[in-house]
Amino acid sequence: MTHLSNHALGLISVEAAEAGRWWFVALWRNPLGTLVLYGALLTHPILGLVALYRRRTLRMPIAEALQLVFGLTVPLLLVGHVTATRLAHALYGRVDSYTWLTYAQWTLRPDIGLKQTILLVVVWTHACIGLHYWLRLRASYRPLVPLAYATALLLPVLALTGFAAMGREVSAWARPDDVARRTAAVSAATVEPAASGRLTRIEGALYGTFGAALAGVLAARGVRTRIANRGRIRVRYPNARVVTAPVGFTILEASRFGGVPHVSVCGGRGRCSTCRVRIERGGDRLPPPGDAEARVLQRVGAPPGVRLACQTRPGGDITVTPLIAQTARQREAVEAAGNETGREQEVAILFADLRGFTSVAERKLPYDVVYLLNRYFEAVGGAVHSAGGVANQFTGDGVMALFGIAAPPEDACRDAIRGAAGMIAALEALSQSLTAELHAPLRIGIGIHVGPAVVGHMGFAEAAYLTAVGDTVHVAARLEELTKTYASELVISETVAARAGVDVSGYPREEITLRNRSTPLAIRVIANARGLAAALTARQE
Ligand code: FES
Repeated sequence: MTHLSNHALGLISVEAAEAGRWWFVALWRNPLGTLVLYGALLTHPILGLVALYRRRTLRMPIAEALQLVFGLTVPLLLVGHVTATRLAHALYGRVDSYTWLTYAQWTLRPDIGLKQTILLVVVWTHACIGLHYWLRLRASYRPLVPLAYATALLLPVLALTGFAAMGREVSAWARPDDVARRTAAVSAATVEPAASGRLTRIEGALYGTFGAALAGVLAARGVRTRIANRGRIRVRYPNARVVTAPVGFTILEASRFGGVPHVSVCGGRGRCSTCRVRIERGGDRLPPPGDAEARVLQRVGAPPGVRLACQTRPGGDITVTPLIAQTARQREAVEAAGNETGREQEVAILFADLRGFTSVAERKLPYDVVYLLNRYFEAVGGAVHSAGGVANQFTGDGVMALFGIAAPPEDACRDAIRGAAGMIAALEALSQSLTAELHAPLRIGIGIHVGPAVVGHMGFAEAAYLTAVGDTVHVAARLEELTKTYASELVISETVAARAGVDVSGYPREEITLRNRSTPLAIRVIANARGLAAALTARQE
């Protein structure tokens, strides 16, 4: 960034850029700056090669592929520049001024100028994608996104136009004192032929080292693939999809290998948890979670049997259910809300779960269970939609819904309460229509909480989906669980009631302690959700 800003000063004049270079040199050519710079130059290609080796499949989303290719291209483009400037300065005292560099690259060797231009674009794009991936899950990043985009676009444009302006300026110098300046700059940058020969050999050695390392990694990948291909695992997904992949693949890599849409917001780095799956069968063939995976699973409150697909390498056949799925309506909703990249906002989160469904399922054929679940999802999803919400996750017999994507939190809370009442009514109607097939009416428990969450359109390709992440989501899930404890239809936080403006003084009040919270959360236990929705409607009339 400092380098590009320095180039941009060339739009003012070569002198301005030379003045800026004084600061640039002071920053990066002192012992500490040198350590940081050389450390980054050394570790970056190593990390790129390690990442290339660790990937079992090269099928990946386009942004990840671009990042990998650019990361491996940078050393190849950078070696010549670093040798000719930094190393030549350190070893032979070359003064790599803007006057000399722009004259050389604009007039004498435009081919090198073109290579430097490509280098700048590649390095900058690589850096921007990397930073964006790293920061995009942080709420504090959201307000800075417009500034980040503007900087990402403007800075390289200003740097390149600054370079061109300097090249034209220095080449056009015709006054004797300007020509003398240019000649002096060229002379200060010229090194002895023997030194030049040694620099060329150093450059060649650096290219050779990186090329050999790259070839070594590719060869090691080839050997590993041959060995892995001797053993295969099968990963089974819902809807009877099966992927056969070499042993050693992560579940996420198996999904990509087999073309199964699988959400992975952080690109498989084990940070976001969006790739998580429930292990239905074959859990005993999995290694235990590593420290990093265990930390993420604990952070999201994942129950036993849930694993991060990007971190889990099955040793045998397994059956999984991805826990974050896609629906078409989510995409529309999030696009309407301008929420493509995710943002922090206040939303009401609703969780619902069928009660006693396991015993219902045990008495039925699998086909009937799927039929029943689809009818259930249709009924409750329709109720959520009618109330203005988005049912964004259907997992097992559970449903998660978001309210307030494009509405104030007060409306979101009222809609969520009405949505809960609508879901219970829809389930009642469904139970009546299925009386002959059910030994008892279907029942549901619902929890609602409101608060800040990062809401966004996440995933890739056709697996893109709307989801919310954050503490509010975990609290809502916990409230849904409490409906079992209190044998009630609905549990809401008092915050929801207050934001909805509904009087809940007649409902039992409890205080619960939640993990990561120092103060208890006040909740209201609602035995009859439709009664509360009716009170809400009456209050508004
Ligand atoms: S993809 Fe982000 S944790 Fe697995």
